[in-house]
Amino acid sequence: MIVPRKALQQNTVASHYDDLDQFYRDIWGEHVHHGLWLTGRENPQQAVEQLVVHVAQRAAVAQGDRVCDVGCGYGGTSRILAHEYGAEVTALTISPAQHKYASEKEPDQSNPVYLLRDWCENQLPPASFDVVISIESSEHMPDKAAFFAEVSRVLRPGGRFVVCAWLARSGARAWEIDHLLEPICREGRLPGMGTAEEYHQFARDAGLNPTGFDDLSRQVKRTWPLCAWRMIKGLIREPAYRRFLFVEKSPDRIFALTVFRIWMAYRTGSMQYGILTALKPAEIEAGCSPVAYNALRGS
Ligand SMILES: C[S@@+](CC[C@H](N)C(=O)[O-])C[C@H]1O[C@@H](n2cnc3c(N)ncnc32)[C@H](O)[C@@H]1O
Repeated sequence: MIVPRKALQQNTVASHYDDLDQFYRDIWGEHVHHGLWLTGRENPQQAVEQLVVHVAQRAAVAQGDRVCDVGCGYGGTSRILAHEYGAEVTALTISPAQHKYASEKEPDQSNPVYLLRDWCENQLPPASFDVVISIESSEHMPDKAAFFAEVSRVLRPGGRFVVCAWLARSGARAWEIDHLLEPICREGRLPGMGTAEEYHQFARDAGLNPTGFDDLSRQVKRTWPLCAWRMIKGLIREPAYRRFLFVEKSPDRIFALTVFRIWMAYRTGSMQYGILTALKPAEIEAGCSPVAYNALRGS
C-alpha cells in the first residue's frame, strides 16, 4: 500500500472536492472518472459513458435492482443506472458541493437518492442491496478493510460488487514511489493506494469472492493528456483559473501538477487502472427488512 508521507487530515477529501468543484465540473463534467476507449474512436463523452456501461455490465445491473453507488461524485453514473437501466439507486458522497449539485439534478429526489455521508459510517441497513459499485472512490478511504467490510455488510447474499480503482504496480521501485506514487497520493488526497493483490485480499477478508479482474490501464490512460489539455486551455482563456492557481492560496491547486504526474505514472506502468468484480456468497442467510430499506430511501 502506498501512503502519503504525512497522514491526511480529516475532511481533506471532502474539502478537495469542494475547493475544486468548479474545475472538476469544467474539466471532467458530470463524470469524475476515467474514460474507457475500446475502439480508440470514441469521443471523450462516449468514453466516460462507456466506462459506466462496462461497470453496469460487469455488475449485471437489471431493472429493479437496488444499487448502491459508493462515492457518486456529481451523480453521473447513478443517473444512468437509474434512468437507463431501471435500477433503484442510492448514492453517497462526502462532498457537500457534489451532493448539492446531484440533488438539484433530481427534482423529485426519489431515484437516485443522494446521501451526504461517509461510506465507512454509512448506517445503511445490512443486506439491503443487490449491487454495490465504486468508481474511483475506494482510493480515498483511509481504511480499505472497512471499505470492503461495509460493501459486504450492505450486500444481500448473492449480491454483486464492482470496484474501479487506481492501483499501484506491485513491487514499485523506489524512484516510482518517491516521484510518482507517493506524491500522487499526497496531492490527490488518497490516504492509500493499494495493489491489485491487496484489493483481492481485502475482498476475501471481507467475505467476498473475487470473480474477475482486469487491468484497463491501456484503455483509460488517454484521460490524462485530455485533462491536461483542457486545463491548459482553461488557463489561457479563464482569468478564474489563473486566479485560483497563482493568486489564491488553496492547498488543492497542487492538483494541476498531479494531473501530469498521473499521466507519467501510466506511461511508466507505475500506476494501473483495475476493475475487480466480487460476489457475496449466496449461502449466507441474512435479509434486510423492507421497513429499514424503505426508511433509508424516505418512502
Ligand atoms: C474520483 S471521484 C469519483 C466520483 C464518481 N464515482 C464518478 O465516477 O463520477 C471520488 C468520489 O468519492 C467520494 N468519496 C471519497 N471518500 C468518500 C467516503 N469516505 N465516503 C463517501 N464518498 C467518498 C468523493 O466525494 C467523490 O465523489
